[in-house]
Amino acid sequence: MSGPNYWDYLKLDQLLSIQGGIEGDERQLMSDELHFIIVHQVYELWFKLMLRELREARDHLAEPEIAEEHVPHVVHHLRRVAEILKLAVQQWAVMETLTPQDFLAFRDKLAPASGFQSFQMRELEILMGLKPENRPRYGNVEPVRHIEERAPGSAAGDMAQRHLDAVRAEMSLRDALHGWLFRTPIQGSSPDDAGDEEAVLEFVNQYEAAYRTSQGKQEKRLLELRVHDADALRKRFEVSAQETRGFLLAQDEPEDGRARLTRIRAGLLFIESYRQLPLLSWPRVLVDTVVEVEEQFVLWRNRHARMTERTIGRRVGTGGSSGVDYLDRAAQGRIFPELWAVRSILLAADSLPPLRNAEFYGFA
Ligand code: HEM
Repeated sequence: MSGPNYWDYLKLDQLLSIQGGIEGDERQLMSDELHFIIVHQVYELWFKLMLRELREARDHLAEPEIAEEHVPHVVHHLRRVAEILKLAVQQWAVMETLTPQDFLAFRDKLAPASGFQSFQMRELEILMGLKPENRPRYGNVEPVRHIEERAPGSAAGDMAQRHLDAVRAEMSLRDALHGWLFRTPIQGSSPDDAGDEEAVLEFVNQYEAAYRTSQGKQEKRLLELRVHDADALRKRFEVSAQETRGFLLAQDEPEDGRARLTRIRAGLLFIESYRQLPLLSWPRVLVDTVVEVEEQFVLWRNRHARMTERTIGRRVGTGGSSGVDYLDRAAQGRIFPELWAVRSILLAADSLPPLRNAEFYGFA
């Protein structure tokens, strides 16, 4: 008995017979509609693979202790997600070969179906850790609720419900990342060490002082230009220094969660600041890869909005949202706000607080 055939292995008979649309018969469809269906299905397949890769990355990150040599595994899975997203961003150009008039020829029969009901997209958002308050509502309803209300009664609807139930019971990538960042040794001190809280606070204080010194130099040079209102400029720098401290001490967070978030943010800042240390080089690549995933995710949303504007202008979407405005608002939410915020406060290597316990991080 020889091995399997290509077509059997890939189930091509099934794969190539599910593009019939509402009619269930692709011979009745115009080629523009076949194109529309296939582009959507290809996206859904990429969503499926990204979900798998994100779960792999999350599982590694969620381990109570991650051996140094396992960090590249996390990066490997996240890089695949980033590359898929890059391709997915490019794929909008294929969608755009559908002209506005071509789309109008079959658009009405789709309503109220909409990409808004892509349960795999919601799964991606939940799995990565998007907080509901960081995404716009859909009319009066929370987006996931909307899917659940319409799901019963079809095989795909039941599948949507199962997927949503499962992902909500899981740990998000964001929470796993935070758990890992929380354990970052800061100036050689780890969470279980005696005096760790003081060590973290001391690092935050030293960092704020270094930040103020660096800002002071910039302020002085700007004042020499004599083009800025001196008081307004000083105030701007003062506000930015206070915001830096507020961010590191997690003052935006309810009091009971502050100490933990402070350690997470300080750990993140430590990794970014002392990234040349051997022990921190992979963690820094990991953080950067998460940023890349989110950047590509945002670009996907932006590109979807521009494609939509080009194809249907600013009219109401088939799902009844404000269309492009809604999509642009959705593109503003961030899943990993800390990873972006920390970039505003980084300092050049020669302005950083002196490193303590360098040998701990692999420097003799
Ligand atoms: C001609 C092509 C397309 C147009 C004009 C279009 C338009 C829109 C509009 C107006 C919305 C807002 C919700 C609504 O009122 O319907 C939306 C949402 C959405 N669309 Fe598309 N879309 C197109 C193709 C696609 C494709 C190929 C995908 C791939 C899966 C997709 C995925 C989504 C997703 C995931 C949402 C929800 C976004 C969110 O809530 O953040 N769309 N689309």
